[in-house]
Amino acid sequence: MIPIDLRGKVALVTGVGDDRGFAWHISKALAAAGARLVFASHPRLVNIVANILERDLDRESRLLPFGAGELKVEKVLPCDVAFDSMADVDEKTLNDKRYTKHGDYTIQGLANTMTKEFGAVDILIHAVAFSPEIKNKMVDTSRKAYLTALSISAFSLTALLKALQPLMENRPEGASAVALSYLGGDRVVPHYGGGMSTAKAALQIDAKQLASNLGPKNIRVNIISAGPYASRAASAIGDIDEMVNHAAACSPLPRAITAQEVGNTTAFLCSPLASAITGHVLYVDCGYNVMGIFPKV
Ligand SMILES: NC(=O)c1ccc[n+]([C@@H]2O[C@H](COP(=O)([O-])OP(=O)(O)OC[C@H]3O[C@@H](n4cnc5c(N)ncnc54)[C@H](O)[C@@H]3O)[C@@H](O)[C@H]2O)c1
Repeated sequence: MIPIDLRGKVALVTGVGDDRGFAWHISKALAAAGARLVFASHPRLVNIVANILERDLDRESRLLPFGAGELKVEKVLPCDVAFDSMADVDEKTLNDKRYTKHGDYTIQGLANTMTKEFGAVDILIHAVAFSPEIKNKMVDTSRKAYLTALSISAFSLTALLKALQPLMENRPEGASAVALSYLGGDRVVPHYGGGMSTAKAALQIDAKQLASNLGPKNIRVNIISAGPYASRAASAIGDIDEMVNHAAACSPLPRAITAQEVGNTTAFLCSPLASAITGHVLYVDCGYNVMGIFPKV
């Protein structure tokens, strides 16, 4: 039997905001393989996430796949990935009590805490995306929203890896970063606007650049391009159910993906079994991306 064994590895997971999104299911897969988990959640969501991790009501959500027990997370740290350091924080956010109570909620603050409390990062999960104008067609997208989408959804991978590099380099079995993309970064998906398609295209080439930059330090960087799934962020697009049904009807495997399948693939990519895989975009989409002409549905 070939095991996926992540015991003792520290996994830092961004993008957990509830128990529905990909980051939650990825965390459960990593935990089922034995990883130690730390969340870096949006400052406004830290308390909500901490509650989901504790409440009896949410116990079922915390059950790990493969009968591996219950999800335990060592820390839920605040991080708004729009900010590299406190010097970048705008006036409005500086005066927002939902932020100030957390102290340093920037990427640098996150790296400082990880250095002090864990001393290493073996796995980094990037599951963050946002555009204030996701419902706007490209042609109607403002410059401000476009740049925000790129900053939060794409550049943040570079910023996180830059800040965490000292903790990730030359780990005993290497370190692994996995970021989540979508087919909208390769092809036109109607309604995937507001600069999000650009952000996913940028994220994909950035991951390849970063794989090349960080390979000599034995840090691997890969992308999972996931099929459509009705998370909170995807529901903001408006027609997510239609996207899921279309993909389910037209994919070589004629069904929708599950979030657990994205979690399982992430666990594989973060394991020594994937030690020669870097700079790769792996589609977890039931094969939808290979289709040229879709069957009549
Ligand atoms: N759901 C889909 O259909 C789908 C398909 C392919 C890829 N993806 C990608 O998967 C990733 C996770 O999204 P999801 O669909 O699970 O939705 P989600 O809503 O669960 O996750 C998005 C997360 O981004 C966080 N976030 C937004 N702005 C932030 C900021 N400035 N700082 C810190 N965190 C911030 C939110 O708090 C949220 O937790 C995203 O990159 C998304 O684009 C989603």
